[in-house]
Amino acid sequence: MKRPVLAANWKMNNGPTAAKIFMDAFLAGYAPRTDRTVIIFPPAVSLPAVAAAAAASRRNDVVAGVQNIHWAEKGAFTGEISAPMAKDAGAAVVLVGHSERRHVFGETDAQCAKKCLAASRAGLPFMLCVGETIQQREARETEKVVIHQLREGLSQVPNLISADFMLAYEPVWAIGTGLTASAGDASAIHTVLRSELRDMVGTRADEIPILYGGSVNSANAASLLGAPEIDGLLVGGASVEAASWLSIAQI
Ligand code: PGA
Repeated sequence: MKRPVLAANWKMNNGPTAAKIFMDAFLAGYAPRTDRTVIIFPPAVSLPAVAAAAAASRRNDVVAGVQNIHWAEKGAFTGEISAPMAKDAGAAVVLVGHSERRHVFGETDAQCAKKCLAASRAGLPFMLCVGETIQQREARETEKVVIHQLREGLSQVPNLISADFMLAYEPVWAIGTGLTASAGDASAIHTVLRSELRDMVGTRADEIPILYGGSVNSANAASLLGAPEIDGLLVGGASVEAASWLSIAQI
């Protein structure tokens, strides 16, 4: 995927009807670009609408993703979807370990690892999310926490050196709070993650996009995106309305 990567995480917003209206408005206003990739992560029920709209526009700079998968391929897991199913429904990438999955639904590093493995096996690129809580930040544990989440999350991925994945650094205290890490602070953590990745996969690390997320909006997006080692943005609240998302995607 071309960098920067601008990703819209709608969370539990925009059902199929609203998703189609969003995509029609967004695609009408967003001219095809060769210098970046846009990913839309709708709720799973809206994935077909988003994927169909992107496919109908005959462009490859806008793709659909899915917010979560189960690690099994199929079976008795009521309410879940698998990586092959998400791919079949049009997902080009899956989020793994978003902070709401970890902190609202109790997802563990071990489960994230199984999800990264499942996505790799299905040939579905994944975006592993890492980030510290406010308590961890105040205890100066940020680096330790994100490195642990990174190492554990990727621990089961076969052939890591050639695996297709991205990272997102999202400090938990910055998500949906209006508080944003400064470009300098975010950049410092991205540098830590990059150096850890180099340790794991060598120079291939430089090809792996690392996105920042947490209260990104059209006013702060440019300075975050301009900071060293920030290869993209993962945007929640400001991505739900087409006009707001358009102004960020065009930065
Ligand atoms: P936010 O969410 O932009 O609303 O803070 C970001 C995210 O959760 O990915």
